[in-house]
Amino acid sequence: MKTQRVLTGITTSGTPHLGNYVGAIRPTVRASRLAEVESFYFLADYHALIKVGEPARVQRSTLEIAATWLACGLDPERVTFYRQSDVPEIPELTWLLTCVTGKGVLNRAHAYKASVDKNTAAGEDPDAGVTAGLFMYPVLMAADILMFNAHQVPVGRDQIQHIEMARDMAASFNHLYGEHFTLPEAAIEDHVATLPGLDGRKMSKSYDNTIPLFVPREQLRKLIMGILTDSRAPGEPKSTEGSALFQLYQAFASAEETAALAKAYAEGIAWGDAKQMLFERLDHEIAPLREVYDRLIQDPAQIEKTLKAGAQKARAIATPFTARLRDAVGLRRLDSVVATTTKAARSAAPAFKQYRESDGLFYFKLVDAGGQLLLQSTGFASGKDAAQAIARLQQQGSQALAGLRDQLTTQGDAAALDQALAHFAADKG
Ligand code: TRP
Repeated sequence: MKTQRVLTGITTSGTPHLGNYVGAIRPTVRASRLAEVESFYFLADYHALIKVGEPARVQRSTLEIAATWLACGLDPERVTFYRQSDVPEIPELTWLLTCVTGKGVLNRAHAYKASVDKNTAAGEDPDAGVTAGLFMYPVLMAADILMFNAHQVPVGRDQIQHIEMARDMAASFNHLYGEHFTLPEAAIEDHVATLPGLDGRKMSKSYDNTIPLFVPREQLRKLIMGILTDSRAPGEPKSTEGSALFQLYQAFASAEETAALAKAYAEGIAWGDAKQMLFERLDHEIAPLREVYDRLIQDPAQIEKTLKAGAQKARAIATPFTARLRDAVGLRRLDSVVATTTKAARSAAPAFKQYRESDGLFYFKLVDAGGQLLLQSTGFASGKDAAQAIARLQQQGSQALAGLRDQLTTQGDAAALDQALAHFAADKG
């Protein structure tokens, strides 16, 4: 079985929280240990610039996210773990993809459209406050993915459209320039829970209801004590349905532990006691990771070194691949190659050949891609006459055959001739 290449990026615009841990970090680190996958994980710091205008925050977030992944067990020896901005080939590929992407396609991207809709509803200019960076976001993301020819891209549901766009860009590029890119697929983790936040809504930075993954133990306890519950008193049976506390517990506990908490709910456990149980269970899993995290974050130079080593691994792929892509699109040295590739391209297509015979007359023939003779002319008095006949065939295709009947003998099958002539007409269009 061919190794599956799995790739995903994390935008460096915030501090990792429990929702990120359960929804992305934990499953991804586990998956990276499987023998049949080759994984690429990167810090999407170019993407962060789209949302964050504070340099110090971008840097801090990059450090925190890198330390988090390493603390949670990502093994940089096993996977390729790098920072997007350490791979200059990615913005270069972004440009190559930009040139095969319809502007209309980007107009329909959810994130951009949401901004436009909001502006329109507010009676503002549709593009008010929208940067070209936000507009181009899907192209940068496609470059991230296509650079490493990833098969699978684990993402949240909100990112599916971006993966589809990356597929389309890959297909357009392949169509124009040859098969260079693998068409990626979104890998949606349906079985991993979306965690509720402190207020019961989905845990998300934008709701300001997150529990940061690596706060000190006492702060974690405080945050958990603040989770929204209903007003049922101790001794009153409680419902697990719609209980944020219960869902959080479930994401960390075994099936037996979860069943035990459900039983305690039915028996009227006090909210304070249930919160204490959640806190202990969470801290049990997080404490050892937190210890590593705290150590790593004290040593940014070590993390920097790890990322630089990752970039070297990434560029060992990206640099030669980019050279190949540059050649494919025609960004080439002037003192070599030209002849070889065009010759190859030419011999793979049907062609007219003009020549003069010893009788002094001018002839031409049409051969197919494999060199098989399809059309043979009789002699023309001048080279110009022969060239005009060729031009008619190239422009009008098979329709020109009747008018030139007296100067032509056809060979081989009519369908092949039609197809070859259609090739020239298509080239004109
Ligand atoms: N857009 C992704 C997010 O916000 C992050 C990201 C950037 C990404 N480049 C990527 C994810 C490439 C997967 C593949 O979640």
